[in-house]
Amino acid sequence: MSRNISASRVATLVGRLAGEDRPLYLELAEGLRLLIGEGRIPAATRLPSERELMTALGVSRTTVTRAYAELRDREYAESRRGSGTVTRLPLRAQSVTDRVFAPWSEDPDVIDLNCAAPSAPAGVAAAYEAAVAELPPYLSSHGYYPTGLTRLREVLAETYAERGLPTTPEQIMVTSGALAGAAVVAQALTAPGDRVVVEDPVYPNATRALGHRSARLVPAPVDPDGWDPAATAAIVRQAAPRLAYLIPDFQNPTGLVMSDAQRAEYAAALKRARVIPVVDEAHEALAPDGQTMPAPFATHSPGAITIGSASKQFWGGLRLGWLRVPEPMMPTLLRARMSLDLGAPLLEQLALVHLIENRHRCGPPIANGWASSATRSSRPSAPSCPTGPTTDPRAACRSGAGSRNPARAPR
Ligand SMILES: Cc1ncc(COP(=O)(O)O)c(C=O)c1O
Repeated sequence: MSRNISASRVATLVGRLAGEDRPLYLELAEGLRLLIGEGRIPAATRLPSERELMTALGVSRTTVTRAYAELRDREYAESRRGSGTVTRLPLRAQSVTDRVFAPWSEDPDVIDLNCAAPSAPAGVAAAYEAAVAELPPYLSSHGYYPTGLTRLREVLAETYAERGLPTTPEQIMVTSGALAGAAVVAQALTAPGDRVVVEDPVYPNATRALGHRSARLVPAPVDPDGWDPAATAAIVRQAAPRLAYLIPDFQNPTGLVMSDAQRAEYAAALKRARVIPVVDEAHEALAPDGQTMPAPFATHSPGAITIGSASKQFWGGLRLGWLRVPEPMMPTLLRARMSLDLGAPLLEQLALVHLIENRHRCGPPIANGWASSATRSSRPSAPSCPTGPTTDPRAACRSGAGSRNPARAPR
């Protein structure tokens, strides 16, 4: 079954066609391709007839006909008898393992409950474009940045300061996702047989990463009512673990948020037992507008390691996360990291700088693929746009992306 989109809506999304540096039909096809790729015109949507779109855009019919043909050639649309031109994504031939992780369905009535991850919000493609423009000065360097690009570490440190947790760039290590960050922590700080307290139930990939070095995992229950710091304190006293892994912000899978008081109590219990808290904040940025989040766990626990992620806030395809660690711990973590990988990809790091710097202008993650009922209620609503309403949020992201961070020498 396909849904429809009106010609006026398509015209609004595409915006003004300039026709300056390429034929108009290519500009239109490119605009539509980006909108389909970003999910703002979802797959399996019936595009308006050529005549309707021609009128709405004020272009010739040949322009629309050729743009639709270009979309079909590039597999972003297909002609269906009786349905006209219907959008699609040219990604069907995914490997079996990837489909197990995120089954693919173009049926707009299917809600994918398999994976709690959004598709990319508007602005990600523009951030990549800006990143490509900034790449040349880095090409003359070796390209390895094991702790991450300084600019990104600075920007990430600022986000912690904004949340009331003063942080220096030297405390940040950029990793290939939050999960890779957890693996670095396990590699650096556990030995076979060490105990690690983990919430129960918990995000299973994290426990696999933490058990990587044959640590013994000790469950600490999270009930429907939430955490029980007193019970956890007793478990910690008995098990004498090396680390305690917790997800205080929209816990996976319960979706619960740990209160300020619980954070303080939990942190004090771990400190008494000399246990290092490993705080996974992968979901922190998902607070809906108007919901005030408690202060970061590390404000109660200066010795904590905090794990962050770009996946839920922006896009999992960036494969970027980071660790915020007490500065003296950084050399140990860096040695461990370099036994796993030598750094995160440069282009993505440049793109993430743009996304963070422009995060209040870009749209929210798009609904395709939003899944887990636990996090569903905590999905962000559209951030307000300080530049005022715009017919094309991507335009705002683009102008911000290009101007705020001119190419600079590699660091
Ligand atoms: C609690 C938690 N941590 C980490 C991750 C993985 O994050 P990343 O994609 O940055 O590796 C997820 C993904 O769902 C998660 O729920």
